[in-house]
Amino acid sequence: MKIPVEMPVLVTSALPYVNGECHIGHLRTYVPADIYVRILRKMGYEVIFISGSDTHGTPIVLSAEAQGITPEAVVERYHEHFKRVFKELNVNFDYYGRTDSENNHRRTEEIVKKLIENGYVYKMRIKQAFCTSCERFLPDRYVEGTCPFCGEIARGDECDQGCGKHLEPGEIREPRCKICGSTAEFREQEHFFFNLSSFAEFLTSYLDTMGGTLNARNYAMEWVKKELRDWCITRNLEWGVKFPGRDDLVVYVWVDAPIGYISFTEEFIKGEGEDETEWGKYWKEDKTTIVHFIGTDIIYHHCIFWPAMLKGAGYSLPDAVVASGMVKIDGKTFSKSRGNVVWTTEFLERFHPDTLRYYLVSHSSHTKELDFSWDSFFMRVNNELVGILGNLVHRVLSFAYKNFGVVPDGDIEEEVFAEIEKTREEGIRAVEDYEFKKFVDAVMMLADFGNSFFQREEPWRLIKKGVQGRERCREIVKNVLQILKAVCIPLDAVMPDKMEEVWEQLGMEGDVHSVKLDEMMVPIKSGQALKKPSKLFERVEV
Ligand code: 2FM
Ligand code: ZN
Repeated sequence: MKIPVEMPVLVTSALPYVNGECHIGHLRTYVPADIYVRILRKMGYEVIFISGSDTHGTPIVLSAEAQGITPEAVVERYHEHFKRVFKELNVNFDYYGRTDSENNHRRTEEIVKKLIENGYVYKMRIKQAFCTSCERFLPDRYVEGTCPFCGEIARGDECDQGCGKHLEPGEIREPRCKICGSTAEFREQEHFFFNLSSFAEFLTSYLDTMGGTLNARNYAMEWVKKELRDWCITRNLEWGVKFPGRDDLVVYVWVDAPIGYISFTEEFIKGEGEDETEWGKYWKEDKTTIVHFIGTDIIYHHCIFWPAMLKGAGYSLPDAVVASGMVKIDGKTFSKSRGNVVWTTEFLERFHPDTLRYYLVSHSSHTKELDFSWDSFFMRVNNELVGILGNLVHRVLSFAYKNFGVVPDGDIEEEVFAEIEKTREEGIRAVEDYEFKKFVDAVMMLADFGNSFFQREEPWRLIKKGVQGRERCREIVKNVLQILKAVCIPLDAVMPDKMEEVWEQLGMEGDVHSVKLDEMMVPIKSGQALKKPSKLFERVEV
């Protein structure tokens, strides 16, 4: 989606449940979102990037019960953990909130009350799974059973291993209590419903123009065409945002979680000391572009529930939903219990965060599944980061440093400018299509071109061929240094630490993070002192 450059952009990344440690499956959403934000800024956009911890719902409560601690304690521990991991990985949110903030409670209440006032919420008695030995109702993940649609094993609120459908309370077949394992029964209880089915026409036209990746749009369209069932928005839990006027019920976590996007925007703007009403520019007045980064498993929630809720309560709608494919390990689904998982902190103990950032976007197209394997990681690092990029940087800078010590004089050749401009244009197009792999591939092609150019012109021979040879050698070196500068600027969005190192070695002023893509075409200054180059990447071994 091409965004008008004068339009401020709000980019959000799905909120992780803070019920356990971050694994690399999580990162498929956060790293590309961060890269997208960095590139938008390099294209001249004003961007706010927010996310936060999803602190409510049964994922948190179940984890607390299993550990014999309170939900608050679970949230506290993992909220800090996720913040640390994001910092280490250079995923730089402008604001990282939590959905149990006072502000999010208030905003959720306000929105639910508005939905009630506008006639979109009704009461109904429904059958709910109940465990007679634990003597309690079993909301969402407290119950396991069989999916009524595809017959796979499912959780109470979603068929996570089969068809991916959202399940309403009482729909699961053969329910079992997740705590004690006994067979559950169905009992009647009063709950509140959101009249989602009345939004069918609205959603059809909304999805028609919604930007983002096609997988999100098509998946959501299918659902709207087939059926839209009303949505139970209350749960029997202590932990959560109380449903207005009911002390015994909290709202379903999928109500207060996306509202976090709004609350965090408010909290960020307040923290910046700006006028409190400024957040309305994003969420009330439709004066900005809102882009949600999510995983394919939560398309239903973001493309159906969320826009209907926003519409029903009179808020602005998301302009784009970008859904990343899920991560597998060696072809198998992630599973903590089966040990099929790669923990982010363990990964970062051994490898530089930039190598992981690079791998996550270069390995497969954003909407496709990413099948992680150590072999493929080692291959990308050794062949591409060491073999192409590291080689270019080290070879060119060593030669230039040894022979000139500064960026030499010379004109940039047409051929070089043309390659750089092609890369810039292809890169921008790729980002507008959320094709981050194409973006890095285009820049790596430019690096590859730099290597071939250096090899073809043989400056090490020229330098020995008298005054004329030395003159030509200067020109060649100036040109490859220009290519290095032009590689560094866009690639900084992907590998900010490593590209800052190169930027310094090139003797550039300021830091590369604030440099715009247009600078790729600006000739590197002759005479600026080069630094003694050091190796950019080390080979990695099994
Ligand atoms: O699926 C999940 O991990 C949710 N915690 C995502 C919430 S995103 C947003 F809507 F809040
Ligand atoms: Zn199913």
